[in-house]
Amino acid sequence: MIYVLNGPNLSRLGTREPDVYGAETFEDLRTLCVATGRELGLHVEVRQTDDEAELVGWIHEAADGKIPVVLNPAAFTHYSYALRDALAQRTAPLIEVHISNPAAREEFRHTSVVAAVATGTIAGFGLQSYVLALRAMADLINE
Ligand code: DQA
Repeated sequence: MIYVLNGPNLSRLGTREPDVYGAETFEDLRTLCVATGRELGLHVEVRQTDDEAELVGWIHEAADGKIPVVLNPAAFTHYSYALRDALAQRTAPLIEVHISNPAAREEFRHTSVVAAVATGTIAGFGLQSYVLALRAMADLINE
């Protein structure tokens, strides 16, 4: 089992700034992740929330269950020390993903407070970032 967790505003994919995030919807993203997981022999559970407390709760769940996580923290990436502290409790692999390339965008997006507690980060490949993350996760798990 792998969690693919998504932070605020990602439910709005498709209508939200399509020039930045593309035309595909969150349901398209869910379908893509589940299908990629199936190809890799992994059961993938995809969740999204706009609520920091709910996301922190899911990270606690993952920490207790030693469940690998692919995480797009969305705007929480840049300022949520609560999320970072929750992630630091985990032992299973964690891959940070972004649809856009935050390093090529506004200054405030250049800082990730979660990157240092992630196994690695994949950013800038559109929804394909999640596919690459799931493949990397499959390799990590099978090591
Ligand atoms: C994002 C990048 C963040 O800066 C932004 O706040 C998001 C989405 C991405 O996937 O490109 O909501 O995480």
